[in-house]
Amino acid sequence: MTTTLRTDLPTLAGTARQLTHAGRGILAADESIKTMSSRLEQQGIPASEAARRDYRELLITAEGLSDWVSGVIWSDETFGQDLSDGRPFPQAARELGVLPGIKVDTGTSKLPNGGGALITEGLDGLGDRLASYADRGAAFAKWRAVFDVATITPYSARANGHALARYAALCQRHGIVPIVEPEVLCTGGHDLGASAQASSLALRTLFDELAQAGVDLSGIVLKPNFVTPGLEGAPATAGTVAAATFRVLSDTVPASLAGIAFLSGGQSTADVCESLRELHRNGDRPWPVTFSFGRALVSDALAAWGGDVRNVAAAQEILVANCRQAGQATR
Ligand code: 13P
Repeated sequence: MTTTLRTDLPTLAGTARQLTHAGRGILAADESIKTMSSRLEQQGIPASEAARRDYRELLITAEGLSDWVSGVIWSDETFGQDLSDGRPFPQAARELGVLPGIKVDTGTSKLPNGGGALITEGLDGLGDRLASYADRGAAFAKWRAVFDVATITPYSARANGHALARYAALCQRHGIVPIVEPEVLCTGGHDLGASAQASSLALRTLFDELAQAGVDLSGIVLKPNFVTPGLEGAPATAGTVAAATFRVLSDTVPASLAGIAFLSGGQSTADVCESLRELHRNGDRPWPVTFSFGRALVSDALAAWGGDVRNVAAAQEILVANCRQAGQATR
């Protein structure tokens, strides 16, 4: 029997480059059922499987989305749903020019003896789940570790970095590009220095763990926070945020990394796009930088939709305008 080697499959590095190429970024629409339901209810929309599906269909079918968006992340529920025309979401995304991604962690719990720090769960059985997602068309995955400047310790950074590295190594084995997300929250009243210190600890530990796990950095995407003062503290200018973020990243992130896609962390669309624009202007960067925003792209669109089919087109226009603003910050 002869085996034909397929040469038409994209490489991990090729997919990671596609996701972070200048001018486009990633739309994070992977809220858990619980989080999405509460966001719908905040807008007066009764939460249901159908309402969550309709909302995610509104996002992915927005005209012109793929001009600015290279990939979309969903949770397991959406990944297994069909659009109203019967196409599975992952198939529809590819047909619309957007790579489908899947959030595979299962959320956080208190890290035992961690002094209030969290650990992200989901490694048990992950290989089988990744195999199934790959069969159903997933190009990339996401795992989010969450740190608070008040509770991060070397131990919590190590435990979460280790989990992220095991997840990333498994993804690569299944031909899926891992997005590794060590998020330092920007809630609170801390100053920029506290964010820089916590972000450095999280990133330095993460890249040590990735190296030990043999993860190929040319086939992953890093999803960090911007280094900012806490949202309840005195704000910093975009130039200051970009400079502090660049300092932390250049101290901790190897030049061989495929690319960086930032989260928005609850900052306004204008603020976070301005920070991205300032950082993108820095010509000394060894890695491409783009966005992987959730709320900064979708919050206005969700409010405009309000669960009413008559508002779909207006909500889609708002979404694409926000994606354009983010994309233009990297052109
Ligand atoms: P925000 O941009 O709303 O922070 O969400 C991005 C994300 O995917 C967090 O995991």
